[in-house]
Amino acid sequence: MADVKKVAFITGGNRGIGLQTARELGQGGFEVIIGVRDPKKGEAALTELRAAGVKAEVVLYDASRPETDQTVKSYFESRYGKLDVLVNNAGMIREELLAKNASNVPGDILRETFETNLFAVVRLTQTLLPLLKKSPAGRIVNVSSILGSLGLHSADDSPIAPAKAFAYNASKAALNAFTVHLADELKGTHVKVNSAHPGWVKTELGGPHAPMELADSARTSVRLATLAADGPSGGFFHENDRLPW
Ligand SMILES: NC(=O)c1ccc[n+]([C@@H]2O[C@H](COP(=O)([O-])OP(=O)(O)OC[C@H]3O[C@@H](n4cnc5c(N)ncnc54)[C@H](OP(=O)(O)O)[C@@H]3O)[C@@H](O)[C@H]2O)c1
Repeated sequence: MADVKKVAFITGGNRGIGLQTARELGQGGFEVIIGVRDPKKGEAALTELRAAGVKAEVVLYDASRPETDQTVKSYFESRYGKLDVLVNNAGMIREELLAKNASNVPGDILRETFETNLFAVVRLTQTLLPLLKKSPAGRIVNVSSILGSLGLHSADDSPIAPAKAFAYNASKAALNAFTVHLADELKGTHVKVNSAHPGWVKTELGGPHAPMELADSARTSVRLATLAADGPSGGFFHENDRLPW
């Protein structure tokens, strides 16, 4: 079994915020494993990470193929016997941000969005939890979105109020509920779980008009992945700020 200090798994780690998170955790001393569904994209990301001096590997993970959860579990079990950090970063949106579509969102969009952004995250986290409990400081980061905040959506004067894409927003609100419920169950263990809003970032998902650059996008996930023992659990954060549920 490899003699390793800290090991992190990042889903959707081949591009965007996931790749930036892998780069920064790697540069901070973690051995990083990125979960990817396309091996070619995985190889390209590995080349980039290794060029940045990061010790990295790739494992097949596809949120729409539940059997890949076991692939991931077996990988960490056999190589490390533990997992220190799980960043549930993979996510998708199939709607326009301003869709205002609660009354007519097609069922297939609702199902696919919940499958990727919620059900797959719950399944993978449940599968990997025994390995996270073997870490002296297990950290789970659920990459959510400020668009999952019911408090902000129900305030007419909130800057996010116009961004009503029902399937995406509801999937992130439900992901936040998972954070709260799991954190409660994990009280008294060494495992912390928090939700992260990375900011509105220029990625394929965020689009070209987003104000935040990719280079700044991993701050929240990295902070929550590296919380000290007295850090929070069961919270929703953007950088150092707590967000309303
Ligand atoms: N960008 C923003 O402004 C913003 C704001 C708030 C929250 N977020 C959240 O941040 C996270 C990362 O977003 P991003 O902006 O970096 O998006 P992105 O550039 O579109 O990257 C998404 C990543 O998720 C992977 N992915 C998508 N569906 C998957 C599936 N079914 N199985 C496995 N992997 C899958 C993609 O893999 P492929 O390359 O194979 O497609 C890709 O690696 C998401 O959870 C998103 O909701 C983003």
